[in-house]
Amino acid sequence: MKVIKSINILKKELKLARKNSFVISFIPTMGALHNGHMKLIQKAKKKNVLRIVSIYVNPAQFGPNEDFKNYPRTIQKDLLMLRNAKIDILFLPINKQIISYKTNYKCPNFSIEKILCGKSRPNYFPGVKNIIIKLFDIVQADYSFFGEKDYQQFIVIKKMAKKLNFKTEIIPIKTVRNKNGLPLSSRNKYLGPDEIKIANKINKICMNLLPKVRKNLSTKKILSNAKLELLINGVNHIDYLTVLTDQLEHRKSLNSKSRIFIAANIGRTRLIDNFPI
Ligand code: PAF
Repeated sequence: MKVIKSINILKKELKLARKNSFVISFIPTMGALHNGHMKLIQKAKKKNVLRIVSIYVNPAQFGPNEDFKNYPRTIQKDLLMLRNAKIDILFLPINKQIISYKTNYKCPNFSIEKILCGKSRPNYFPGVKNIIIKLFDIVQADYSFFGEKDYQQFIVIKKMAKKLNFKTEIIPIKTVRNKNGLPLSSRNKYLGPDEIKIANKINKICMNLLPKVRKNLSTKKILSNAKLELLINGVNHIDYLTVLTDQLEHRKSLNSKSRIFIAANIGRTRLIDNFPI
């Protein structure tokens, strides 16, 4: 595995790979890798594919009172995992270079950025779009892989890639969960043993919601009952618990592609999840 820090060196390396007819698959991450990331990496494996993973904890997507400083950084372990997975290139951009990198793309805005996570984390999507535009411009991948745990992020990036005519195809990968259904997330590292138990309950309560939502009962009532149940079971704050279409629109009659979306705090840790109904 080549570890590349310089944007120019990376561009040269990728140009050579393209010349040698390699397909380029890209997995952007913020590190603190877990099996969820590894699934993205496995899915990107095909013949004649050069797999590139980036690790960059992007300050712009964190709010002033959020966890940028404490965000888990486990670079030695990440290196080992990526080497074992036989990744071709790890891109670890130099902060100054990536911040000053200019592209000709004009960042688009979408109304769906204002709901769910975008409502309570106003810096999040502008920050994500900003770094992803730069990374897409630098890497010019054929395929880019994103986890469905961050479903709203996946939709925003997909819309943006289409709007800006990036040639990369955005591939969503199903959420990887532990044996209790808790989605793997770098932020799970913040949870103590008792908090993990509460996090597992979020999954259980949402799973119980699924058949009820499927039956299309009075969604409002079942969602408010579930919120109450979450609070009784130790969740401190529910940012949202809602059902939307797979394109994040409100629809009176839900379809089979609709999803339950949840963001909740356990102690100071914010967790998000979503479930196709
Ligand atoms: O999902 C993440 O890890 C980040 O938001 C991303 C897409 C790598 C952008 O920094």
